[in-house]
Amino acid sequence: MLKSTILVAVADIKGGVGKTTTAMLIAGCLARRGEHVTVLDADNTGGATLWDEYVRIEDDRRRKEDEANGTPHKPYKLGFDVIQTNDVILGMPDRIRERYKGWVIIDTPPSDAGTVQAALQAADVSIIPCQPSISDLSHAGKTYAAARNGIILLTRVKARTKLARDAVKQLDELEATRFETVIHEREAIKNLYGTNQIDNRDYASVTQELIDLVKQFGIE
Ligand SMILES: Nc1ncnc2c1ncn2[C@@H]1O[C@H](COP(=O)(O)OP(=O)(O)O)[C@@H](O)[C@H]1O
Ligand SMILES: [Mg+2]
Repeated sequence: MLKSTILVAVADIKGGVGKTTTAMLIAGCLARRGEHVTVLDADNTGGATLWDEYVRIEDDRRRKEDEANGTPHKPYKLGFDVIQTNDVILGMPDRIRERYKGWVIIDTPPSDAGTVQAALQAADVSIIPCQPSISDLSHAGKTYAAARNGIILLTRVKARTKLARDAVKQLDELEATRFETVIHEREAIKNLYGTNQIDNRDYASVTQELIDLVKQFGIE
């Protein structure tokens, strides 16, 4: 039996590693599978909140266009809510569990150790996105060590590079839990920002792995 609320942090102390992209695309994949999902945006620069806002603006634009044309409106939406949060709220995970059922994905800010720590402590599982470089792996290693049920996700990987091969080897030597699926650097992923087109194949495969790992971790 899975918990009625599964808290998943997407965390690393570095910016630009793909945290917001990962949080939003996994949320989208879960929602498409019929799961109830909420994204809690703990980054006060609001990458996830702004993404949601762009989708709402596009929905408004389409609704007005449909009204003008007399055509029925097909909602343009993410399929889950994005809600702003902060480390005080993250410090009360029981309240979060009371309030939100299903999957709660917490997007975290860069360079804010307090909030990242609060998210790691609240979460049942933490996904740590990491680009394949020595310095990023070392940051990710620290986040992984502080996490309960940490899973490293290699992101923005340039295919067939030595860095990518070395990163996989290093993680496996350390016996770190990682997603088998590696997210490649793709223009198509970059272009998803602010849209509801969150049907990315690589992230669908990460989502399946996440569901399997949550069961393996025995989160119940
Ligand atoms: N797999 C990818 N391929 C190409 N661009 C990506 C990929 N993942 C993220 N990006 C882009 O990199 C930038 C940083 O990603 P973002 O998810 O905002 O990272 P973070 O939240 O860690 O700062 C954004 O412009 C995003 O669109
Ligand atoms: Mg971000």
